[in-house]
Amino acid sequence: MPRDGAKKLTIERNPNPVAASEREALLQNPGFGRVYTDHMATIRYSEARGWHDGKIGPRSAFNLDPSTLVLHYAQEIFEGMKAYRWPAGGATLFRPDANARRFHNSAVRLAMAPLPEELFLESVRALVRVDKDWIPTADGASLYLRPFMIATEAVLGVKPSADYLFCVIASPVGSYFKGGAPAVTLWISEDYTRAAPGGTGDAKCGGNYAASLAAQAEAIREGCDQVVFLDAVERRWVEELGGMNIFFVFDNGSVQTPPLSGTILPGITRDSLITIARDLGLTVREEPYAIEQWQLDAESGRLREAFACGTAAVVTPIGKVKGRKRNFTIADGGAGPVTGRLKAALLDVQFGRAADRHGWIDRLF
Ligand SMILES: Cc1ncc(COP(=O)(O)O)c(C=O)c1O
Repeated sequence: MPRDGAKKLTIERNPNPVAASEREALLQNPGFGRVYTDHMATIRYSEARGWHDGKIGPRSAFNLDPSTLVLHYAQEIFEGMKAYRWPAGGATLFRPDANARRFHNSAVRLAMAPLPEELFLESVRALVRVDKDWIPTADGASLYLRPFMIATEAVLGVKPSADYLFCVIASPVGSYFKGGAPAVTLWISEDYTRAAPGGTGDAKCGGNYAASLAAQAEAIREGCDQVVFLDAVERRWVEELGGMNIFFVFDNGSVQTPPLSGTILPGITRDSLITIARDLGLTVREEPYAIEQWQLDAESGRLREAFACGTAAVVTPIGKVKGRKRNFTIADGGAGPVTGRLKAALLDVQFGRAADRHGWIDRLF
């Protein structure tokens, strides 16, 4: 493999794959992130050799020295994307180039060696092709792909690693929320923030998620499903959930989502929904929304719907919002019509039932 070039990955088939009958049983009810395919993609980086040893091989454990940098200083980034089996035949990825670009940007922010976007794409595509029998066929199910990269230099000094391991694993998944969650209840985090200006909020690095867990645990203790974070400076502006972006729908039919200010993850679902909403003739604003305004608008009825979105959970209606000082319901607390329309329009493109007007579909076979 040339220093930064994309060249065919070596393919080494797993000599002991899961038996077809067991695989079919696992695919019946995979849950989320509990079942894995037979293979994984790996590519190594060293300063001397650049990217090298790219391969698809049997899924296996890593052997890491206890001093490996990632275990101490969390120099790690990841992505989340899905392969979809189309009812009419074949399988596709949805905007994988956008994941490759975001992965590149995350690497730059974490001072890691950026993986060439072509290599990212080639690894993901090759893994799905080798593990194609693991793409579920059930309605709404898909093969979740988790590309990630870790700092592998074995040294305790705080510095950017000289060595990295890029890896992609794959997991057949059903619905993210158990029971398909008709509408979720959010907990407003007042003690914790997710990201500050100048921090890593717009990078997809493991540390952001570690930092969100105490807030998420608080949400669960308070009887809520997910945490919603406010900005770190004024503790007033609605930013996003722990793993999803957020949208609001008003009585005049317009749609609003917080702007990408550097503290929010630039979601690919968010970006796609903005485009789809505009295609449907809706007005979309990327503007800040204050928590007190959210409550006022929910109580006056000006706000008709709110929903969260991301690759894993697609589009999820928000029914109720709770906090120490607040407790309000959006409309009747269920799923609204604009949310339903946007979700259906997105899924129709992802599963090939609607025309791909924006070149988002990457056909694998
Ligand atoms: C913090 C955060 N926000 C938003 C999203 C949604 O991003 P995407 O639509 O690209 O999955 C995710 C999921 O990756 C996330 O982790």
